[in-house]
Amino acid sequence: MNVTFLLNGETVELEGVDPTATLLDWLREDRGLTGTKEGCNEGDCGACTVMVTDDGGAKALNSCILFLPQLHGKAVRTVEGASGPNGEAHPVQRAMVDLHGSQCGFCTPGFVMSMVASHANGARDHDTQLAGNLCRCTGYAPIIRAAEAAEEQPVPAWVKDKPIAAPASPMLPGSSDELAKLYAKYPDATLIAGATDVGLWVTKQLRDLDPVIFLNRCDDLKEITITDDELRFGAMVDMNRMEEALTDLHPSYAEMIRRYASVQVRHAATVGGNIANGSPIGDNPPALIALDATLHLRKGDARRSIPLEDFFIDYGKQDRAPGEFVEAVSLPRQADRLKAYKLSKRFDQDISAVCGCFNITISNGTVSQARIAFGGMAGIPKRASHVEAALNGKPWTRETVDAALPAFAGDFTPMTDMRASATYRLETAKAMLERYFFEDQGEVTNVLEVSA
Ligand SMILES: Cc1cc2nc3c(=O)[nH]c(=O)nc-3n(C[C@H](O)[C@H](O)[C@H](O)COP(=O)(O)OP(=O)(O)OC[C@H]3O[C@@H](n4cnc5c(N)ncnc54)[C@H](O)[C@@H]3O)c2cc1C
Ligand code: FES
Ligand code: FES
Repeated sequence: MNVTFLLNGETVELEGVDPTATLLDWLREDRGLTGTKEGCNEGDCGACTVMVTDDGGAKALNSCILFLPQLHGKAVRTVEGASGPNGEAHPVQRAMVDLHGSQCGFCTPGFVMSMVASHANGARDHDTQLAGNLCRCTGYAPIIRAAEAAEEQPVPAWVKDKPIAAPASPMLPGSSDELAKLYAKYPDATLIAGATDVGLWVTKQLRDLDPVIFLNRCDDLKEITITDDELRFGAMVDMNRMEEALTDLHPSYAEMIRRYASVQVRHAATVGGNIANGSPIGDNPPALIALDATLHLRKGDARRSIPLEDFFIDYGKQDRAPGEFVEAVSLPRQADRLKAYKLSKRFDQDISAVCGCFNITISNGTVSQARIAFGGMAGIPKRASHVEAALNGKPWTRETVDAALPAFAGDFTPMTDMRASATYRLETAKAMLERYFFEDQGEVTNVLEVSA
């Protein structure tokens, strides 16, 4: 494939690249730019962070799970390009030195590039911005202090990148219409959206993928439409944009997304990929099912829409035909009654052991409609229909909630794995319903909101 992008301000035109070559490998092995480090090679540690600028602005991304064709028309800046043309340190580099933000230095280029990107965007929520960067020597306090110290410094001109014009390239369709035609021609192709799953098939499972079709140039799939009746998210809407769009409408969902992986992964991961992968532990499907979402699929010129919950048939089996792709997901505009509880071993950057999403409408003290869906409790994201039935039409009281708890055992037979035991999963699901009830009565249940 032919790929064109800017690297530290200079145009790079590559011909005949392996479509699943990662930016990290290319930087280190072909370009000798070894400042960008390899730690985990699976998106978890942030050592490989680079800044990528596209039409949506500057973003920190993990280069270990970023394929070269995903950069077509964009601008990449590595740690070698963080300092100025005459060797001037970037304000975050200066602050890292002054405030002792580095010891062994292995994590440092990744931290610096996350900080360069968040500094460019004026972000001040440094804990969140740096949650995807691991440091095992320095400790985070001096690094956060450095990020704070650089806040007021102007963004240096040399990091103000702009995307560039890039010619059409096969397997990089420029719209969903082009994608529909291409996928109809190659129905066995692997679609690549954000590559936060597919990247690992290559770096960890060493799979050869051929052919592949990249969705990153399909701008019409990146649209978010909010009307009086519905919210519609194109398949290529990434998790950071999803969080932003949901902050006012469904704040608990947005807060759950804040804990979905890290800033770097959220800039890449798409809602379409999170649904299409059919994972039983993806965080969007339970929230979307609780909100009564509809999935929009397209094959060639044929489109169909189904309730999202019907898409998940069995573990590893979804209602999607060869050559058919996810175009969008929509949900009815509704008063916010949603609580999305993500339970994981770590607060930041961890896959859910259980993700419970509750959307319970109360009219005159009675449950008029309960929609409850879980991830991590079955082979697919699944509704708690027995629990819903035990709540519907009943008074919204502690007694009703207590009486509904045994129904969880009718809905779910969870498994034991490294994230949680079956018993823990079942007990925690019950506790989530209790939590929803208590929160609804005005009690504070979020430990982050308790101060000593
Ligand atoms: C470090 C790390 C942390 C993570 N943390 C979380 C987490 O907290 N919660 C969570 O839910 N997930 C998490 N994930 C998993 C991953 O981010 C999500 O599953 C993500 O949403 C996948 O989206 P993507 O765009 O990257 O998909 P890709 O990797 O590009 O694709 C995933 C699958 O979907 C298919 N696909 C993609 N788009 C379409 C489409 N439009 N139509 C049809 N098929 C399509 C692909 O062919 C592939 O089979 C994490 C991943 C990493 C690496
Ligand atoms: S090497 Fe760890 S996130 Fe890329
Ligand atoms: S300084 Fe050693 S890992 Fe951060």
